[in-house]
Amino acid sequence: MASIVTRKAVTFINNQTPATITESTLDLDKCYNENEIVIEVHAAALNPVDFLLHEFSNPRLSTKNPKGYSRDYSGIIVRKGAKVAPIWDIGDHVNGMFSHVYGEQGTLTNYLILDPVKQSSISHIVQNSSAAIDVGKKVPDEIEDRSGTKRDDFVKNAAWPLVFGTAYSCLMEQGQVWDKDSRILVLGASTAVSNCLVQIAKNQLHVGTVVGICSSKSLTYNKEIGFDYTVAYDQGDGFIANLRELMKTPEFVGKKFDLICDSVGTSEFFPVIQEFLKPRNENSYYVTVSGNEKYDYKNPTLGNFVTISGPVRRFNPWRTFNYKGIIVSPNQAYMDLGNRMITLGRFAPRIDSVYKFEEFQEAIDRLRSNRAKGKVVITIKE
Ligand SMILES: NC(=O)c1ccc[n+]([C@@H]2O[C@H](COP(=O)([O-])OP(=O)(O)OC[C@H]3O[C@@H](n4cnc5c(N)ncnc54)[C@H](OP(=O)(O)O)[C@@H]3O)[C@@H](O)[C@H]2O)c1
Repeated sequence: MASIVTRKAVTFINNQTPATITESTLDLDKCYNENEIVIEVHAAALNPVDFLLHEFSNPRLSTKNPKGYSRDYSGIIVRKGAKVAPIWDIGDHVNGMFSHVYGEQGTLTNYLILDPVKQSSISHIVQNSSAAIDVGKKVPDEIEDRSGTKRDDFVKNAAWPLVFGTAYSCLMEQGQVWDKDSRILVLGASTAVSNCLVQIAKNQLHVGTVVGICSSKSLTYNKEIGFDYTVAYDQGDGFIANLRELMKTPEFVGKKFDLICDSVGTSEFFPVIQEFLKPRNENSYYVTVSGNEKYDYKNPTLGNFVTISGPVRRFNPWRTFNYKGIIVSPNQAYMDLGNRMITLGRFAPRIDSVYKFEEFQEAIDRLRSNRAKGKVVITIKE
C-alpha cells in the first residue's frame, strides 16, 4: 500500500456550515505514534448525537477547526505502532466505537488513527457469523435487514458497537440481577438502542418478560425481534392507558417492572410511576438514554437536554424511585459480549439502510426522519 494517501472525511465547522466531505494528504508511515493503530475504514454508522453536536456548535463558541462525524466503525488495521499490544496486528478486521466530542476525527473517514487502550471499545469482528454454531436462540436472518439484502461483515459490524454498548449500560450498570421472573418495560421499542436491549435481555440474560412501547405500525416488527408484548403509543388514549390495560391481564396482575428503560425521552411516566415500577428498595430503576423530552432530530434544542429535573430525580434523598441518565463510554466488556452473541447466533445487528460515502447527506436525512428501524450505515471502502 502506498504511504501517501488522500484522506477523505465528513466534517462540519459549526451550525452555520453543512456537513461536507473534506480531503487532506496523509502519510500512513508517519501519521501514528508508538501506541496507535491506523484503520482503513470500510463502513461507519450514524448516530443522532451528531445532529445535536452539529446543531449546538455555535460559531461564536466553537473553534474554526473541522469536526469529525460519527462514532461506529469497521475496517482493517493497516499500520501499528511499536508499543501496540500484539493482539492488534496489521491485516486484522476490527470494529468499535470511537469516542469523541467535537473531535478532529470521526469515523466517517477512510483512515482512522486511534490508541486501542484509550479507545477500548474495539474488537476483532466475527467473520461469516452465519456459519457459527447455534447454541442459543437463533435470531432469524430475515429480520436482520429490512431490505432483505445480504450485508457484508464490515457493514454488519459497523452497525452495533455504540447502540449495543448503550443497551448494555442500561441493563448491566445498576447492579440488577436478571432471571426468568424479571420484567422490563422499554419506551421506544423501535429504536436501535432498544433493538439491542431486547436481544441482550431475552437471548443472553433470559429475562422473563420484556414489554415495548412503539407506534402501531411497529407492533409486529418489535414482536419479531423478541419483545414479549408490544403496546402502541399512538392508539386509544395513549401508551399509559394502553399499558394499564395490559397490566390487568393475568400475566401482569400484581406484578410490576424491575426496569423501565426510556430510549425516546419522555416525562409522562413520572406522575404514575408507582403503578408500574417496583419499589426503590428492590433495586428497581428508571433509566433514560435520551433525557426528559422527545427531541426533534431535525431541530434539537439545548432545553431538551439541560434540565435540573434529572439530577434532582437521581440525587434527591427523598426520591421514591432510582433514576439514572445513561451515557455510553468506551468499554471492552460490551464489545466482547456483542461478538460472543453474534458468534452464538443470539444477536443480529439491525440495519435500516446502507449508503455510499458520497451519499452521506441522504443517509443523514434518513436518520433525521426518525423512522429508521435499525442503523443507517455508510460504506466507505468500495
Ligand atoms: N445516552 C447515550 O449514550 C445514547 C447512545 C445512543 C443513543 N442515544 C439516544 O437514544 C435515542 C435513540 O437513538 P437510536 O439511534 O436508537 O434511535 P433511532 O433508531 O433513530 O429511533 C428511531 C425509531 O424511534 C421511534 N420513535 C419515533 N418517535 C417516537 C416516539 N414519539 N415514541 C416512541 N418511539 C418513537 C420510531 O419507531 P416507531 O415506529 O415505534 O415510532 C423509529 O423507528 C436518541 O435520543 C439518541 O440520541 C443515547
